[in-house]
Amino acid sequence: MPSVVKINVLTVPEEQREVLEKRFASRAGAVEGSDGFEWFELLRPVEGTDTYLVYTRWRSEEDFQAWMEGPMKAAHQRGGEDAPQQRPAASGSTLWSFEVVQQAGPKQG
Ligand code: HEM
Repeated sequence: MPSVVKINVLTVPEEQREVLEKRFASRAGAVEGSDGFEWFELLRPVEGTDTYLVYTRWRSEEDFQAWMEGPMKAAHQRGGEDAPQQRPAASGSTLWSFEVVQQAGPKQG
């Protein structure tokens, strides 16, 4: 079974970039311990777009769904002390799903 890639595409207005990155800098860090989790990257747009990509890779669709139903909810609750007046930094989001068909890394040695 191939791994699956789930990318959350966040539309982030210029003036909200710092807020978003700070939130990720203080993220829950729970995803690392989730069953089937393989990789996470927060990708900042360099040019021509206002969309950040939250790249995640999972062993299976089931592992991703299990994370969505439990740990993800906790990780997305803004329960911190600065929470009450917090508004989402992103003005929109879309979930992209992929299967890994091929992959490669650098040659070893
Ligand atoms: C309404 C849609 C979503 C928005 C606006 C959003 C935004 C955010 C933000 C601002 C954070 C930083 C921590 C926080 O503020 O709670 C975060 C954490 C995270 N988000 Fe989302 N998110 C959404 C849905 C999703 C989905 C569907 C995925 C699946 C790919 C995802 C993947 C992650 C991951 C992996 C973290 C880090 C969690 C951890 O450290 O345990 N997000 N998200």
